[in-house]
Amino acid sequence: MDVKNKIVKAHDLSFQKYLSEEKIAERIAVLGKEIAAQYENKNPLFIAVLNGAFVFAADLMRACGDMACEVSFVKLSSYDGLASSGKVETILGLDTSIEGREIIVIEDIVDTGKTLFQFLQHLGKFNPASISLASLLVKPDAIQYHFPIAYVGFNIPNKFVVGYGLDYNGAGRNFAAIYQLIESTSSES
Ligand code: IMP
Repeated sequence: MDVKNKIVKAHDLSFQKYLSEEKIAERIAVLGKEIAAQYENKNPLFIAVLNGAFVFAADLMRACGDMACEVSFVKLSSYDGLASSGKVETILGLDTSIEGREIIVIEDIVDTGKTLFQFLQHLGKFNPASISLASLLVKPDAIQYHFPIAYVGFNIPNKFVVGYGLDYNGAGRNFAAIYQLIESTSSES
């Protein structure tokens, strides 16, 4: 079966394949090598933003080879269905000290940038040695809050996507590839 244009469903919506597992894996291998070269002997602390970044974080860390590193998780929420609610809430906070640490925040997607912008301001209060960002996806046309993102997987159009950790109201995180929303026309079912 030709799965190039594979269509999947999450709740009531249909999505079309956009980034294959192979493309994602290739890009993450490159990012992992870059991070390993820059953080060798620095024992960075990855902070993965739940829920969406858990798949990317697992693969990105392992793409860094045997570099010494640690990982911690935070849970932030700003999305409700297909749109950002505009409010960023911390549902699960940091459980470890970041003072003097080299931090790499791992996010699944930067849309408006509000979630990470607010989180970066929060992290800055705890005096880390440095903070850099890794985001699997960035929607440049949607960004309203600007900050440097050192490690970008893919710049994508301003369309809703699911898969590889990203969800639509909880569904679709398990899809191995990334799928883009098919905008419905009135005759579609
Ligand atoms: P921002 O604060 O607008 O940058 O939104 C970031 C968060 O919104 C991400 O961590 C995701 O949880 C969610 N998000 C933004 N765009 C998408 C999308 O296309 N699919 C799934 N979740 C998304």
